[in-house]
Formats: sequence, C-alpha cells, structure tokens
Amino acid sequence: MLLFVCFAWLLCSQHSSARPMSDVLHNHDTYQAARDISRKAQKLEAGDDTSLRLISRVSPNQPLAQNAEICCLHANILDFYLLNVLQSSDSFHPTMPRLKTDLARISQDLSHHGCNVTHYHDHQNAVEFREKLITMQGPRGITKAIGEIDILFTYLGEFCVQN
Ligand SMILES: *[C@@H]1O[C@H](CO)[C@@H](O)[C@H](O)[C@H]1NC(C)=O
Repeated sequence: MLLFVCFAWLLCSQHSSARPMSDVLHNHDTYQAARDISRKAQKLEAGDDTSLRLISRVSPNQPLAQNAEICCLHANILDFYLLNVLQSSDSFHPTMPRLKTDLARISQDLSHHGCNVTHYHDHQNAVEFREKLITMQGPRGITKAIGEIDILFTYLGEFCVQN
C-alpha cells in the first residue's frame, strides 16, 4: 500500500513538473494584461454574434502526444497577432505595449523549443482563423481577435509544456 502511494506520488509529481516552454506563460502580470485587454475588447463587441469564435476550440483531453502540435499551431496564430492584429494597437489599452513585448518573447521561446510556425500555416485551424477574421472586415475583426487574446494565452500555457 505504502509502495503504491509512493508510486502514485512519483507519477503525479512528475506530471506537475511539466515546465512551460516560456516562463512568460506563467507570469501573472502578463496573464492579467491579457485578461484585461480581452475584456475591454469583448465589451466593445456587445451586440455582435458572441457565438462566433475566430480561434477554434481545442477539444479537452487531447492525448499528451499531440501537445506539441497544438502548441505550435497556436504559435502560428500568435505570430499572426504580432504581425497583423496588434500592429497598431498600442493605444487600445495601457498594458498593450507590455503585452506585445511579452507575446513576442513567448514566440521567440517557442521557436527555440522547435516550433516551426511556417509548418502550421496551412493547418485547418490557422486557415479558418484568418478567413473568419477577413470576413469580419477591418476594425470589427481586429476587436474580435483582441477579445480572444485570453483564449490564445490560455491555450499556449496549457499546451506549450515540456514533459
Ligand atoms: C518549416 O516548415 C516548412 C513548411 O512545412 C518547411 O518547408 C521548412 O523546411 C521547415 N523548417 C525547418 C527548419 O524545419
């Protein structure tokens, strides 16, 4: 019995030692900024169809083996945010410049951990994200995307881990 408890503890402690690929993903201030900024954008889209999502849902209980793939897919979406969505967004919220710097750091860290962002350019979820954004046109799409920064940050934190 004691042996079993020790064994279970060892398994659990190993699992919880899964480290984020970027320390920024566990930074509380970054998380708070992502939340505040998303909330502000979500308020601005009041009245819009809230059931629409640009970032597709990842079904829970993905096999661990797929973590890296899901991580790098969202690293691709992250780069799209950095190069397009957030290009001229600094005045959107006081913490936006800080969040952009942090997101750029995350992108760098993920690339160092082997994410080939280009490889996921044609992944269905990445393609759908861009198509939905373009369909919404201009500022509405940008606001919608900013409203989903918290989702993006959460997915990256959940799947970009070293086991
Ligand atoms: C990244 O992915 C692209 C597209 O699949 C491929 O052409 C390229 O060789 C890859 N780069 C590396 C360093 O693996």
